[in-house]
Amino acid sequence: MKSSAAKRQTEYLQTEREQFLGDVLAGLQADRKTLNPKYFYDATGSQLFEQITALPEYYITRTETSMMRQVVKRLGEYCDGVQAIVEFGSGSGERSDILLSALPGITSYVPIDVSEELLASTANGVNASYPHIKVQPLIADFTESMQLPSATPERRLGYFPGSTIGNFLPAEAIGFLQNARRLLGTHAKMLIGVDLTKAVKKLECAYDDAAGVTGRFNKNVLTRINEELDADFVLKNFAHQAFFDHDRSRIEMHLVSLADQRVSIDGMHKVEFRAGETIHTENSHKYTVEGFRQLASKAGWHSTTDWVDDERLFSVHLLETN
Ligand code: SAH
Ligand code: AVI
Repeated sequence: MKSSAAKRQTEYLQTEREQFLGDVLAGLQADRKTLNPKYFYDATGSQLFEQITALPEYYITRTETSMMRQVVKRLGEYCDGVQAIVEFGSGSGERSDILLSALPGITSYVPIDVSEELLASTANGVNASYPHIKVQPLIADFTESMQLPSATPERRLGYFPGSTIGNFLPAEAIGFLQNARRLLGTHAKMLIGVDLTKAVKKLECAYDDAAGVTGRFNKNVLTRINEELDADFVLKNFAHQAFFDHDRSRIEMHLVSLADQRVSIDGMHKVEFRAGETIHTENSHKYTVEGFRQLASKAGWHSTTDWVDDERLFSVHLLETN
């Protein structure tokens, strides 16, 4: 007989297509067309994201990884007694390995991701390297209400690397941090990677690389809609666009329609595009260290300490509940 956790996972997969279709139609039928960035991460999208992390222009991953090697040297002082790590948007789990190897008291690891493929390979990797750690992967949307496996020890460290928090609007980021506080419980701590504001050219190049990988990542969401929702997007009729919006302190990614065109989705739904009209596919908010501390405090967290690299590209924040 299936456990209730396994049942919940199966139900999640069954409703996934319906939810995807509903979200895509709602997003593309709005006055300003949008798609939720979580839909980037099918197997191909996750592979493309891995390629992005190795691009010379995309400083985020390598900067955070090298910072984490320093951060973990001092983390033990702050995380005495922590037994469980709950990682949001774990992806390939590269940074989790740095964290797990530095905190010998960890007995439980719960990676959470919408990308099933990545989640399985991350869980297998941790199982193989740390046989004493109980790994309980959770396929879930971390913006929705979640439950941790019942046996998760009480002293928990949340980990949210990669500046994925920047993909939320500031109000959504506060909501996420409030939910994470509830999920992690009374003794919660949270380690978060947050990208910093910097010269516009550096930011724009990071999201519009010379090799065109970010463009392929952006357009892959249309391929995914074609394949999973029986749509007929013609990829060459859309162009990748990424620019910094000063007022909102964020990189916006769009797909620009290069012609007047009509796309059919799931047989019976038609979506019209005018030439020049865009689908807004992602925001990546950039913060100052102080700005992020203030945002976290609005969600009931206070900053224990934070780290910034020598070039002031990226920050890592350790938060505690008030
Ligand atoms: N933490 C990794 C991966 C970042 S990419 C790193 O820093 O390199 C963002 C990750 O978050 C992807 O693995 C993606 O599948 C996951 N993700 C994005 N939106 C999500 C959502 N709403 N719920 C759960 N996972 C999500
Ligand atoms: C996952 N997230 C933090 C990445 C970012 O930088 O916003 C996704 C990404 N989009 C384009 N390049 C990378």
